[in-house]
Amino acid sequence: MIKQYTGYSLLAHNTFGIEAKAAHFVEFGSQSELTAFLGAGFCGKALVIGGGSNLLFVDDFDGTVFHSAIMDIEVAQETATDVLLRVGSGVNWDALVAYTVERGWCGLENLSLIPGEVGASAVQNVGAYGVEAGDLIEKVETVRIADAVPCSFTKAECDFAYRHSIFKAAEKGRHIVTYVTYRLKKTSDFKLSYGNLCEKVEELGGATLANVRRAVCEIREAKLPNPEQIGSAGSFFMNPIVDALKAAKLKDEYPAMPQYPLPCGDVKLSAGWLIEQCGWKQNPHPHVGVYKHQALVVINLGGATGRDVVAFAGDVSASVKEKFGVELHMEVNVIG
Ligand code: EPU
Repeated sequence: MIKQYTGYSLLAHNTFGIEAKAAHFVEFGSQSELTAFLGAGFCGKALVIGGGSNLLFVDDFDGTVFHSAIMDIEVAQETATDVLLRVGSGVNWDALVAYTVERGWCGLENLSLIPGEVGASAVQNVGAYGVEAGDLIEKVETVRIADAVPCSFTKAECDFAYRHSIFKAAEKGRHIVTYVTYRLKKTSDFKLSYGNLCEKVEELGGATLANVRRAVCEIREAKLPNPEQIGSAGSFFMNPIVDALKAAKLKDEYPAMPQYPLPCGDVKLSAGWLIEQCGWKQNPHPHVGVYKHQALVVINLGGATGRDVVAFAGDVSASVKEKFGVELHMEVNVIG
C-alpha cells in the first residue's frame, strides 16, 4: 500500500541530522503503486530521496518527497560465470553488498558500508576503493515523473563517470528509480590496488570475498564517522580534477600532495588533503567542522542548521581556492 503523509519530518531521512519538513511525503512499495500515483495527475515539485546520505536541507521542502520501499531482489539471469541481479531501489546498499558476498557473487565488495539505498547508487554512481557502482550496473529502470511512463536505461545510456550519471545531468529531476540490475561474477576478480586495501586483506588471511568486504569495512570504520553517531553526508565535496599542467605546478610547490592521474590525462586531487592543509581540522565553526580522520567529511557538531553547514562549506571552498587555486564542487545536494 502506498503511504502518504503531510507536514512530514525529514529528520530520520537525512544523515546530517538536520530538522526539515516535507509538505508531502509519499512512500511506494511497487512500480505499479508509483505509476498509479503519478498517473492520477501528480504535479508540483518532486524530490526523490534514498537513505538521505547525500542531502542537505537548508529549508523545509514545499513539494512532494518520494521514497522507494521496493525491496525485492531477484536473479534475472544466471550463466556459468555471471549473475544478473535485479534489485528494488529501496534496498539498503550495504545489505545488498552483504547479500551478494554471502552468495559468493563478486563485484560489490569494495563498496561495502557505503550508506544509502540502491536507487541512489545509480544516480550518484557511488564509488570507493577503486570501484564504482556504474562498473557493475547493467540496467536502470525508472518511472518518468511527468507522465508516469516506465523507462529503462542501459549502462551506456546512464553515462556513468566519477560521481556522475545522466540522472544528474540531462535527466536530472525527471525520474524515480524503481530497479537497478547489476552484473556480478561467480569467479573472483578482486580490485585491491587502492590505498592499503591489499595490505589489510593480507592481514586478514588473504584475498577471499569475505575478507575483502571485512577489510573495506574496517578501513571505512577507522576513517569515516558512523552516521548513527555523528551527522554527516560522507564526502561533502567531490575530488577536484585538474589538467596535467596545473597538477605538475602544484606537485612542484607541494611535493606531498596526493595525485591520481586519470586515463584522459587529467589528474584527480584529494579534496580531503587540500582541506586538511588549510587547517580545517583545527578550526571548526561553532556547530560544524570536518572529521578528524577525513577532512572531506563535513560533520554536524551538534545543533547545526543547513545554513550553518552551507556557510562553513563556503569558507572551506574559499580557503582551498585561495591557497591552491583549485575549485571544490559539492557532492552533497543542497535542498532549498
Ligand atoms: N587525505 C588527507 N587528509 C584527509 C583526508 C585524506 O591527507 O583528511 C589524503 C589521504 O591520506 C590519501 C588521499 O587524501 O592520500 C585520499 O584519501 P582517501 O583514500 O580517504 O579517499 P578520498 O579521495 O578522500 C574517496 C571517496 C570516498 C571513498 C574513498 C575511498 C570521493 C568524493 N570520496 O575519498 O567516498 O570512501 O575515496 O575510495 O570521491 C563518500 O563518497 O561518501 C566517500 C566516503
